[in-house]
Amino acid sequence: MIGIIGCGHMGEALLAGLLNAGTSPECVVVSHRREERCAELRERYGVVAETNNSAAARGAEIAFITVKPNQVLPVLEEIGEVISDNDEETVVVSMAAGIATNTMEDAVPVGTSVVRAMPNTPMRAGKGVVVLARGKHTSAAQMAAVEELLSTTSVVQEIAEEHMDVATALMGSSPGYIYLVAEALIEAGCFLGLSRDIATTISTGAIAGAGVLLTQPDATPAALKAEISTPGGTTVAALRELEESGIRKAFYRATEACARRSRELGSH
Ligand SMILES: NC(=O)c1ccc[n+]([C@@H]2O[C@H](COP(=O)([O-])OP(=O)(O)OC[C@H]3O[C@@H](n4cnc5c(N)ncnc54)[C@H](OP(=O)(O)O)[C@@H]3O)[C@@H](O)[C@H]2O)c1
Repeated sequence: MIGIIGCGHMGEALLAGLLNAGTSPECVVVSHRREERCAELRERYGVVAETNNSAAARGAEIAFITVKPNQVLPVLEEIGEVISDNDEETVVVSMAAGIATNTMEDAVPVGTSVVRAMPNTPMRAGKGVVVLARGKHTSAAQMAAVEELLSTTSVVQEIAEEHMDVATALMGSSPGYIYLVAEALIEAGCFLGLSRDIATTISTGAIAGAGVLLTQPDATPAALKAEISTPGGTTVAALRELEESGIRKAFYRATEACARRSRELGSH
Protein backbone atom coordinates (compact mmCIF):
# COMPACT_ATOMS: atom_id res chain seq x y z
CA MET A 1 0.00 0.00 0.00
CA ILE A 2 1.15 3.53 -0.82
CA GLY A 3 -0.05 6.53 1.18
CA ILE A 4 -0.05 10.16 -0.01
CA ILE A 5 -0.69 12.63 2.79
CA GLY A 6 -1.83 16.20 1.96
CA CYS A 7 -2.71 15.73 -1.67
CA GLY A 8 -2.43 19.24 -3.19
CA HIS A 9 -0.55 20.14 -6.39
CA MET A 10 2.54 18.01 -5.75
CA GLY A 11 0.61 15.15 -4.18
CA GLU A 12 -1.72 15.05 -7.16
CA ALA A 13 1.23 15.12 -9.60
CA LEU A 14 2.63 12.10 -7.73
CA LEU A 15 -0.74 10.33 -7.67
CA ALA A 16 -1.44 10.94 -11.37
CA GLY A 17 2.12 9.95 -12.32
CA LEU A 18 1.92 6.67 -10.40
CA LEU A 19 -1.51 5.75 -11.75
CA ASN A 20 -0.56 6.66 -15.35
CA ALA A 21 2.50 4.44 -14.98
CA GLY A 22 0.39 1.46 -13.96
CA THR A 23 0.06 1.55 -10.16
CA SER A 24 -3.45 0.35 -9.34
CA PRO A 25 -5.76 2.88 -7.61
CA GLU A 26 -6.53 0.10 -5.13
CA CYS A 27 -2.93 0.24 -3.92
CA VAL A 28 -3.09 3.95 -3.02
CA VAL A 29 -4.75 5.73 -0.09
CA VAL A 30 -4.62 9.52 -0.04
CA SER A 31 -5.55 11.99 2.68
CA HIS A 32 -6.38 15.67 2.67
CA ARG A 33 -7.63 17.97 5.41
CA ARG A 34 -10.71 19.05 3.39
CA GLU A 35 -13.50 16.59 2.56
CA GLU A 36 -14.39 18.36 -0.73
CA ARG A 37 -10.84 17.80 -1.97
CA CYS A 38 -11.06 14.12 -0.92
CA ALA A 39 -14.31 13.80 -2.90
CA GLU A 40 -12.63 15.38 -5.94
CA LEU A 41 -9.68 12.92 -5.73
CA ARG A 42 -11.99 9.91 -5.30
CA GLU A 43 -14.02 10.97 -8.32
CA ARG A 44 -11.02 11.82 -10.51
CA TYR A 45 -8.76 8.84 -9.68
CA GLY A 46 -10.90 6.14 -8.05
CA VAL A 47 -8.63 6.02 -4.98
CA VAL A 48 -9.61 5.89 -1.31
CA ALA A 49 -9.33 9.46 0.01
CA GLU A 50 -9.90 10.36 3.66
CA THR A 51 -9.61 13.44 5.85
CA ASN A 52 -7.82 11.35 8.47
CA ASN A 53 -4.07 11.34 7.70
CA SER A 54 -3.57 8.14 9.69
CA ALA A 55 -5.71 6.30 7.11
CA ALA A 56 -3.04 6.99 4.46
CA ALA A 57 -0.26 5.79 6.78
CA ARG A 58 -2.00 2.63 7.97
CA GLY A 59 -0.46 -0.43 6.30
CA ALA A 60 1.64 1.78 4.00
CA GLU A 61 4.98 0.41 2.83
CA ILE A 62 5.75 3.93 1.60
CA ALA A 63 3.98 7.00 3.04
CA PHE A 64 4.57 10.17 1.03
CA ILE A 65 4.18 13.49 2.85
CA THR A 66 3.22 16.20 0.36
CA VAL A 67 2.06 19.02 2.66
CA LYS A 68 3.78 22.43 2.85
CA PRO A 69 7.00 22.44 4.91
CA ASN A 70 5.34 24.02 7.98
CA GLN A 71 2.86 21.12 8.17
CA VAL A 72 5.39 18.27 7.92
CA LEU A 73 6.20 17.94 11.63
CA PRO A 74 2.54 18.10 12.83
CA VAL A 75 1.67 15.45 10.22
CA LEU A 76 4.58 13.21 11.31
CA GLU A 77 3.46 13.48 14.94
CA GLU A 78 -0.10 12.65 13.88
CA ILE A 79 0.87 9.44 12.04
CA GLY A 80 3.66 8.26 14.36
CA GLU A 81 1.57 5.76 16.33
CA VAL A 82 0.04 4.19 13.22
CA ILE A 83 3.49 3.77 11.67
CA SER A 84 4.76 2.00 14.79
CA ASP A 85 1.77 -0.35 14.67
CA ASN A 86 2.18 -1.27 10.98
CA ASP A 87 3.15 -4.93 10.45
CA GLU A 88 5.59 -4.08 7.67
CA GLU A 89 8.10 -1.28 8.22
CA THR A 90 6.90 1.99 6.67
CA VAL A 91 9.30 4.26 4.81
CA VAL A 92 8.24 7.90 5.27
CA VAL A 93 9.14 10.00 2.21
CA SER A 94 8.77 13.77 2.62
CA MET A 95 8.63 15.85 -0.54
CA ALA A 96 8.73 19.16 1.36
CA ALA A 97 11.38 21.77 0.66
CA GLY A 98 13.87 22.40 3.43
CA ILE A 99 12.90 19.72 5.98
CA ALA A 100 16.00 17.65 6.80
CA THR A 101 16.01 13.91 7.47
CA ASN A 102 17.30 14.39 11.04
CA THR A 103 14.43 16.83 11.74
CA MET A 104 11.98 14.21 10.49
CA GLU A 105 13.72 11.46 12.48
CA ASP A 106 13.22 13.48 15.67
CA ALA A 107 9.46 13.66 14.99
CA VAL A 108 8.76 9.98 14.22
CA PRO A 109 9.10 6.88 16.44
CA VAL A 110 12.75 5.95 17.04
CA GLY A 111 14.22 3.87 14.23
CA THR A 112 11.66 4.89 11.58
CA SER A 113 13.02 4.95 8.08
CA VAL A 114 12.74 8.39 6.47
CA VAL A 115 13.72 9.72 3.03
CA ARG A 116 13.82 13.33 1.95
CA ALA A 117 12.75 13.75 -1.67
CA MET A 118 12.59 16.75 -3.96
CA PRO A 119 10.35 16.09 -6.96
CA ASN A 120 8.95 18.31 -9.66
CA THR A 121 5.48 18.47 -11.15
CA PRO A 122 6.32 17.03 -14.64
CA MET A 123 6.16 13.77 -12.67
CA ARG A 124 2.44 13.98 -13.48
CA ALA A 125 3.22 13.17 -17.12
CA GLY A 126 5.97 10.61 -16.37
CA LYS A 127 8.63 13.24 -17.12
CA GLY A 128 9.67 14.24 -13.62
CA VAL A 129 13.02 14.45 -11.88
CA VAL A 130 13.32 13.38 -8.24
CA VAL A 131 16.35 13.66 -6.01
CA LEU A 132 16.50 11.59 -2.83
CA ALA A 133 18.52 11.69 0.39
CA ARG A 134 18.17 8.81 2.81
CA GLY A 135 17.87 9.01 6.59
CA LYS A 136 20.09 7.08 8.96
CA HIS A 137 17.65 4.17 9.46
CA THR A 138 16.85 3.62 5.77
CA SER A 139 18.16 0.30 4.46
CA ALA A 140 19.44 -0.26 0.92
CA ALA A 141 16.38 -2.41 0.21
CA GLN A 142 13.99 0.33 1.40
CA MET A 143 15.81 2.93 -0.68
CA ALA A 144 15.65 0.62 -3.71
CA ALA A 145 11.89 0.20 -3.24
CA VAL A 146 11.36 3.99 -3.13
CA GLU A 147 13.57 4.46 -6.19
CA GLU A 148 11.81 1.70 -8.12
CA LEU A 149 8.38 3.19 -7.47
CA LEU A 150 9.37 6.77 -8.28
CA SER A 151 11.30 5.75 -11.38
CA THR A 152 7.96 4.91 -13.02
CA THR A 153 7.27 8.68 -13.04
CA SER A 154 10.66 10.38 -13.00
CA VAL A 155 14.40 10.28 -13.48
CA VAL A 156 15.61 9.43 -9.95
CA GLN A 157 18.95 10.51 -8.50
CA GLU A 158 20.23 9.95 -4.97
CA ILE A 159 22.31 12.88 -3.70
CA ALA A 160 24.08 13.94 -0.52
CA GLU A 161 21.58 15.75 1.68
CA GLU A 162 23.82 18.83 1.89
CA HIS A 163 23.14 19.36 -1.84
CA MET A 164 19.36 19.17 -1.52
CA ASP A 165 18.75 22.95 -1.43
CA VAL A 166 20.80 23.46 -4.60
CA ALA A 167 19.01 20.56 -6.32
CA THR A 168 15.72 22.23 -5.38
CA ALA A 169 16.85 25.34 -7.27
CA LEU A 170 17.85 23.31 -10.32
CA MET A 171 14.94 20.88 -10.62
CA GLY A 172 12.21 21.33 -7.98
CA SER A 173 11.45 24.95 -8.82
CA SER A 174 12.93 25.21 -12.32
CA PRO A 175 9.79 24.19 -14.24
CA GLY A 176 8.51 27.57 -12.99
CA TYR A 177 11.45 29.36 -14.65
CA ILE A 178 10.68 27.61 -17.95
CA TYR A 179 6.98 28.54 -17.73
CA LEU A 180 8.08 32.16 -17.24
CA VAL A 181 10.31 31.92 -20.34
CA ALA A 182 7.36 30.44 -22.30
CA GLU A 183 5.07 33.21 -21.13
CA ALA A 184 7.63 35.89 -22.05
CA LEU A 185 8.11 34.38 -25.51
CA ILE A 186 4.36 34.29 -26.12
CA GLU A 187 3.94 37.93 -25.00
CA ALA A 188 6.84 38.93 -27.25
CA GLY A 189 5.19 37.13 -30.18
CA CYS A 190 1.94 39.02 -29.51
CA PHE A 191 3.90 42.27 -29.38
CA LEU A 192 5.34 41.40 -32.81
CA GLY A 193 1.83 40.89 -34.19
CA LEU A 194 1.00 37.17 -33.86
CA SER A 195 -2.31 36.00 -32.42
CA ARG A 196 -2.01 34.65 -28.87
CA ASP A 197 -3.12 31.17 -30.00
CA ILE A 198 -0.49 30.90 -32.71
CA ALA A 199 2.21 32.43 -30.48
CA THR A 200 1.34 29.85 -27.78
CA THR A 201 1.31 26.85 -30.13
CA ILE A 202 4.65 27.62 -31.76
CA SER A 203 6.48 28.82 -28.62
CA THR A 204 5.46 25.93 -26.37
CA GLY A 205 6.13 23.46 -29.20
CA ALA A 206 9.66 24.84 -29.59
CA ILE A 207 10.34 24.57 -25.84
CA ALA A 208 9.01 21.00 -25.71
CA GLY A 209 11.11 20.04 -28.77
CA ALA A 210 14.27 21.58 -27.28
CA GLY A 211 13.56 19.57 -24.09
CA VAL A 212 13.51 16.33 -26.10
CA LEU A 213 16.86 17.13 -27.76
CA LEU A 214 18.42 18.12 -24.42
CA THR A 215 17.66 14.70 -22.94
CA GLN A 216 19.08 12.66 -25.82
CA PRO A 217 22.22 10.66 -24.95
CA ASP A 218 25.42 12.74 -25.15
CA ALA A 219 23.54 15.99 -25.84
CA THR A 220 24.92 19.14 -24.23
CA PRO A 221 23.26 22.57 -24.18
CA ALA A 222 26.42 24.18 -25.58
CA ALA A 223 26.61 21.81 -28.59
CA LEU A 224 22.89 22.17 -29.34
CA LYS A 225 23.18 25.95 -29.15
CA ALA A 226 26.24 25.96 -31.44
CA GLU A 227 24.33 23.83 -33.99
CA ILE A 228 21.71 26.55 -34.50
CA SER A 229 24.00 29.57 -34.10
CA THR A 230 24.83 30.26 -37.74
CA PRO A 231 27.52 32.98 -37.82
CA GLY A 232 25.87 36.30 -38.62
CA GLY A 233 22.45 34.66 -38.38
CA THR A 234 19.19 35.26 -36.54
CA THR A 235 19.79 33.07 -33.46
CA VAL A 236 23.15 34.66 -32.60
CA ALA A 237 21.53 38.10 -32.87
CA ALA A 238 18.88 37.06 -30.34
CA LEU A 239 21.38 35.28 -28.04
CA ARG A 240 23.57 38.39 -27.92
CA GLU A 241 20.57 40.44 -26.72
CA LEU A 242 19.77 37.86 -24.04
CA GLU A 243 23.39 37.77 -22.83
CA GLU A 244 23.63 41.57 -22.77
CA SER A 245 20.30 41.75 -20.92
CA GLY A 246 21.88 39.71 -18.13
CA ILE A 247 20.17 36.35 -18.49
CA ARG A 248 23.05 34.41 -16.87
CA LYS A 249 23.21 36.84 -13.97
CA ALA A 250 19.44 36.42 -13.54
CA PHE A 251 19.83 32.62 -13.28
CA TYR A 252 22.73 32.87 -10.79
CA ARG A 253 20.60 35.17 -8.65
CA ALA A 254 17.40 33.12 -9.03
CA THR A 255 19.03 29.81 -8.08
CA GLU A 256 20.84 31.42 -5.12
CA ALA A 257 17.54 32.88 -3.90
CA CYS A 258 15.78 29.54 -4.32
CA ALA A 259 18.44 27.53 -2.46
CA ARG A 260 18.53 30.16 0.32
CA ARG A 261 14.74 30.03 0.67
CA SER A 262 14.83 26.23 0.81
CA ARG A 263 17.34 26.43 3.69
CA GLU A 264 15.21 29.05 5.48
CA LEU A 265 12.08 26.87 5.23
CA GLY A 266 13.93 24.11 7.05
CA SER A 267 15.25 26.34 9.81
CA HIS A 268 11.87 27.50 11.23
N1 LIG B 1 4.52 22.49 -6.29
C1 LIG B 1 5.73 22.14 -6.68
O1 LIG B 1 6.15 22.36 -7.83
C2 LIG B 1 6.65 21.42 -5.72
C3 LIG B 1 7.88 20.90 -6.19
C4 LIG B 1 8.69 20.23 -5.30
C5 LIG B 1 8.33 20.07 -3.97
N2 LIG B 1 7.15 20.60 -3.54
C6 LIG B 1 6.80 20.42 -2.12
O2 LIG B 1 5.55 19.78 -2.07
C7 LIG B 1 4.85 20.23 -0.93
C8 LIG B 1 3.45 20.62 -1.34
O3 LIG B 1 3.51 21.70 -2.25
P1 LIG B 1 2.24 22.02 -3.17
O4 LIG B 1 2.68 23.02 -4.14
O5 LIG B 1 1.62 20.76 -3.61
O6 LIG B 1 1.30 22.73 -2.08
P2 LIG B 1 -0.27 22.61 -1.95
O7 LIG B 1 -0.91 22.57 -3.29
O8 LIG B 1 -0.70 23.67 -0.98
O9 LIG B 1 -0.49 21.17 -1.30
C9 LIG B 1 -0.47 20.90 0.07
C10 LIG B 1 -1.83 20.36 0.42
O10 LIG B 1 -1.80 19.82 1.73
C11 LIG B 1 -3.02 20.14 2.36
N3 LIG B 1 -2.77 20.14 3.80
C12 LIG B 1 -2.21 21.12 4.54
N4 LIG B 1 -2.09 20.73 5.82
C13 LIG B 1 -2.58 19.49 5.89
C14 LIG B 1 -2.73 18.54 6.94
N5 LIG B 1 -2.32 18.83 8.17
N6 LIG B 1 -3.27 17.36 6.65
C15 LIG B 1 -3.69 17.05 5.39
N7 LIG B 1 -3.60 17.89 4.35
C16 LIG B 1 -3.04 19.09 4.60
C17 LIG B 1 -3.35 21.52 1.86
O11 LIG B 1 -4.71 21.78 2.04
P3 LIG B 1 -5.43 23.19 1.67
O12 LIG B 1 -5.76 23.07 0.22
O13 LIG B 1 -6.61 23.22 2.56
O14 LIG B 1 -4.43 24.28 1.98
C18 LIG B 1 -2.90 21.45 0.41
O15 LIG B 1 -3.92 21.03 -0.48
C19 LIG B 1 5.64 21.38 -0.33
O16 LIG B 1 6.26 20.96 0.86
C20 LIG B 1 6.65 21.74 -1.37
O17 LIG B 1 7.87 22.15 -0.80
C21 LIG B 1 6.31 21.26 -4.37
